[in-house]
Amino acid sequence: MDLTNSVVWFAIALVFIIAVTAKIAIGRTMFDPICKRPCPPLVNSGSLIKLLLTKGPQAMIRDQHKKLGSVFTVSFFGLKVTFLVGPEASGHFYQGLESEISHGNTFEFLVPIFGKEVGYGVDIPTRTEQMQFYNEALKLSTRRSNVDPMVKEVEDYFSKWGQHGVVDLKHEFDKLIMLISSRCLLGKEVREKMFGEVYMLFRELYNGMHLTSVLFPYAPSPVNRRRDRARSKLAKILVDIVRSRNAASSNQAERDVLQTLIDSKYKDGRSTTEAEVTGFIIMLLFGGNHTSSVTSTWTGACLLSHESCLAAVVEEQKKIIGKYGNHVDYNALQEMNTLHCCIKETLRMHPVQPINLRKVHKNFTVRTREGNEYGIPRGHTLASPVLYNNSLPHIYKDPDAYDPDRFSVGREEDRVGGKFSYTSFGGGRHRCVGEAYAYMQIKVIWSHLLRNFELKLVSPFPKTNWSKLVPEPKGKVMVSFKRVAAA
Ligand code: HEM
Repeated sequence: MDLTNSVVWFAIALVFIIAVTAKIAIGRTMFDPICKRPCPPLVNSGSLIKLLLTKGPQAMIRDQHKKLGSVFTVSFFGLKVTFLVGPEASGHFYQGLESEISHGNTFEFLVPIFGKEVGYGVDIPTRTEQMQFYNEALKLSTRRSNVDPMVKEVEDYFSKWGQHGVVDLKHEFDKLIMLISSRCLLGKEVREKMFGEVYMLFRELYNGMHLTSVLFPYAPSPVNRRRDRARSKLAKILVDIVRSRNAASSNQAERDVLQTLIDSKYKDGRSTTEAEVTGFIIMLLFGGNHTSSVTSTWTGACLLSHESCLAAVVEEQKKIIGKYGNHVDYNALQEMNTLHCCIKETLRMHPVQPINLRKVHKNFTVRTREGNEYGIPRGHTLASPVLYNNSLPHIYKDPDAYDPDRFSVGREEDRVGGKFSYTSFGGGRHRCVGEAYAYMQIKVIWSHLLRNFELKLVSPFPKTNWSKLVPEPKGKVMVSFKRVAAA
């Protein structure tokens, strides 16, 4: 019963996401069937519906992959979705020019949230420049300076846990990651004076992402009105901070992510505006918070249900503390390879974006793993099935097993598998700009927990809630803790 529910939700979510990508495109797209190569084999969704609803998209993709090879097209209500299975077929998907292949209107529903001045609200050249601002804001030197504030937030947070007890990891990490983001992304004004208000508004904005808002982002519905109210209150707080920073003399300025975004300049010398900086920050919170807290929770569930992995990460912490003492700094985090592999393996099995989508603007040719060449026409939607690709047995040995060691030196199955074998953080042109930052904060959290507590998963290993935009552990993830004396 539960399996069927999950499967149906995943199927609905998949069809739904694809429908979103296509909804406006259907009216506008000019299909251009003139390709130099034959089109990929076409499957009519009618014959797949039963499989999709009873066994889910994974089984549907596996079935077609087996029958048709690594590139095939599914026709959903007249919309052509071409699946590219495996790294061999994924090159153009991830690194094609924006003018030839892009997100299209997949994320149009985010415009009322981020603002029309940034991201999916602006033209592609402006968006590309804005991505450089994020890269600059999250560069190595900023990340290094973020470690101490992150550690402090984590220590303060867990110092409030008692000697022993039971907690819901999902709830704990949701709040903790927001505290870290407030300190490291939003700056000390928010963290020290208005965390509660910003946290509440951000939750309202995030929870405002109902299916109806995704499909009809501008409809005058109560949900959209609540979303817009929360957005305008949050924007006012952020604009006030930007103004007060602009008014302060430059030697008083904080050197943090927010300040880097305020100081960023476009190629033509234009400075970023208050509205743009507000949008950048909301976009970073959206891109980084839920993804990191969900991954921290899955990491906990995986570690606490695999004894040997748990023993290995605890042992690694002991060694690192032996070398660095109890103060975790950037170099200590870099040495936590075992923990790093555990987080990476968690994301292989539980990617936050199980499928990546693009729109084709210019015909291109794809060569399949089997050696066939197909022409993909302009107008097709492309799907890179991340979750399925992450479990391909020719890349990942025994893919259903939680085996973090597969990423360790000497094995590195993803590297051996070739570029785009591991796409839990996307890849190429749109690779996640926050990847290194995300690993850092998840490691700071788990390093602290592993050194200071004995933990046990007391609820069953969570199933996945596919009904969420970012699939997350279903229900509460209950963990008992007992404080141990510091090593
Ligand atoms: C475990 C945590 C995270 C995961 C699994 C994750 C995953 C992803 C994925 C899969 C994409 C690519 C989407 C695509 O190709 O369509 C992406 C893009 C992005 N991520 Fe992350 N992310 C995480 C954390 C973060 C953090 C912490 C930040 C910022 C502080 C961030 C900011 C972004 C941004 C701005 C983009 C858009 C890049 C672009 O379109 O060029 N992410 N992320």
